[in-house]
Amino acid sequence: MLTGQETVREILNLSPQAKSVLHKYGITLESADHFGYKNLAHAALTLKIPLRKILDDLSAATGERVAEIKVKGVQNTAGKSAVRKGGLENIKRIIAVHSGKGGVGKTFVAVNLAAFLAKKGMKIGLLDADVDCPNVLHILKAEGKLVANQKKMIVPLEKFGMKIVSMAPLLNSEDEALLWRGPIVSRVLEQFLYDVDWGDLDVLVVDLPPGTSDIPLTLYHMLPRAEVLLVTTPHQLGLLDAKKAAAMAKKLNVKILGIIENMGGEIFGKETSKEAAKKLGIPFLGSIPMHTAYAQIDHEGRPQVFSSLELEEIYENVRKKTGL
Ligand SMILES: Nc1ncnc2c1ncn2[C@@H]1O[C@H](COP(=O)(O)OP(=O)(O)OP(=O)(O)O)[C@@H](O)[C@H]1O
Ligand SMILES: [Mg+2]
Repeated sequence: MLTGQETVREILNLSPQAKSVLHKYGITLESADHFGYKNLAHAALTLKIPLRKILDDLSAATGERVAEIKVKGVQNTAGKSAVRKGGLENIKRIIAVHSGKGGVGKTFVAVNLAAFLAKKGMKIGLLDADVDCPNVLHILKAEGKLVANQKKMIVPLEKFGMKIVSMAPLLNSEDEALLWRGPIVSRVLEQFLYDVDWGDLDVLVVDLPPGTSDIPLTLYHMLPRAEVLLVTTPHQLGLLDAKKAAAMAKKLNVKILGIIENMGGEIFGKETSKEAAKKLGIPFLGSIPMHTAYAQIDHEGRPQVFSSLELEEIYENVRKKTGL
């Protein structure tokens, strides 16, 4: 008989079916550790998912019966409860790097922007908010587990003078993230913003997944003061997608800092986005060429801006144009 008072470990050990139900809700052994879930009901409460729903899913998957929920000290979490909004006053600016299309170089731009600003002596946080493909830690060769401190806040990892948080350490396997949807990703993003001990930051750079999915929506909803940096390729289709991302930000009243063109050069052209940016009334912040060296990760995971004068100059211009 399932009651919700079982620990996450107990449920995970029940059967592979039970395990996949919990993973669908983003409840893993790692997340239980990090967020200190006392039992399944506590996890449901934290994630603001109705406990009844999880128990019913578990019951359908395992054949176990479900008890009437009367968990002492923990309320049934059925019913709506909004994500947190606003706040984070210790963080001066929040810059979300976004694009309508995948693979245009958002992560490349975000990581190098954060690294460049950190090298300039600013206090920088980098949040990898790409649930489907969190690759920031891989690129920076940053290792370590996310642990909670005495304030029950997540301690960010640190590398190259940046405080870094990624969803990657919470995932058991690369496939798992694909199961996280809708409200769950929103909750996870909420925790990664509000339950992290960021300390004082000049800028928090957020690497978003592509497209107009739940993650950018939730971010803009929670923090309307976030500013968006759009990345596009000079390619026509890339520009169309940039328009979509720009339209989303505009609709939600989020300020668009500007467009950075990436992968400029002989293949896609160069500065073709400049005209499009002008038409959209969005500042054009610069064009980063396509360069084999920019696609490479060295053995220490050093961001490319540390070894390329060209990139340094481009980012210095971006800094000036955006008042950073
Ligand atoms: N200017 C560039 N020159 C050469 N390679 C680049 C450049 N920018 C990015 N890349 C490479 O292109 C690939 C895609 O870049 P990246 O992962 O940053 O894109 P993305 O927009 O974050 O993708 P996704 O939508 O999947 O998150 C990576 O292998 C990266 O190293
Ligand atoms: Mg990316």
